[in-house]
Amino acid sequence: MKNLLSIESLDSGRIRSILDSAAVMKSTRGRHDALPLTGQCWALMFSKSSTRTRVSFETGIRELGGNVMFLAADDIQLGRGEPICDTARVMGRMLHGAVIRTYDQKDVEDFADFSGIPTINALTDEEHPCQILSDLFTIVETRGSLDGLCVTFVGDGDCNVARSWIWAAARMGFELRIAAPEGFQPPGDLLARAGGNVSVTADLQKAAAGASVLYTDVWVSMGKEKESEHRIAQLQGYQISRELCSLAPGALVMHCLPAYRGKEITGETFEAHAETIFRQAENRLHTQKAILKMLV
Ligand code: CP
Ligand code: NVA
Repeated sequence: MKNLLSIESLDSGRIRSILDSAAVMKSTRGRHDALPLTGQCWALMFSKSSTRTRVSFETGIRELGGNVMFLAADDIQLGRGEPICDTARVMGRMLHGAVIRTYDQKDVEDFADFSGIPTINALTDEEHPCQILSDLFTIVETRGSLDGLCVTFVGDGDCNVARSWIWAAARMGFELRIAAPEGFQPPGDLLARAGGNVSVTADLQKAAAGASVLYTDVWVSMGKEKESEHRIAQLQGYQISRELCSLAPGALVMHCLPAYRGKEITGETFEAHAETIFRQAENRLHTQKAILKMLV
């Protein structure tokens, strides 16, 4: 495998091997047998803010023996209009790999094609594959397997994180329920293309009943700030709360972070499930090290 651009492009065997390798990375942190990025220099090229993805990739690349530079898109010529295909051809001649956070999925695909170096999608408007692979690892780590898994995604059902969940459910064969109001549901053609056991409803309580995971993400994704008022009004109530959790006893409550208390999750429920939520964040490091190892 040369690139990690989406969950859509992975098959179940590849996903399973990333999850298995993440477990080894976690249990052998600080005493890995081999450092596969030794002698390599990678770049993180980000057009959007990041805490977890940036810190976990910078740490992970170094822990695997590599060097890393952070390039804010606005600080390089890309931000002044240099095309991605030219940026990629320059970086491909100097670097050994790139981790890209941007808007358009086509930009990471073009970067991968034009640079010829291993390229990782660190979030686009379409997918957030590293997040969902880490979350699957957290679920396996907690429950032992994906068998019988039923994930309910609450909130903006058409965001990048929800879309990656749709592909993960299709590839791994678990049940996914998306609870979102009209206007925030994933498009029918995407659902048809993905297939799998995925249902979409505006009925939050029905979607939550008996789920094994209750998952949410921000109501206002990066790049959608101008729609904030409309989104907050429309998504009101699509929130993980104590009352919602009572419909799914024992469910893991998960959040990719950053979290907005009082919006997609109550402060009380966030703190009650902080151990799981911050373990999700930690597992970004271990899972992405597994991905890096697989690409070099
Ligand atoms: N979950 C996640 O990707 O967080 P950051 O935006 O902080 O990287
Ligand atoms: N859907 C969110 C995810 C943040 C990690 C966003 O794109 O801003």
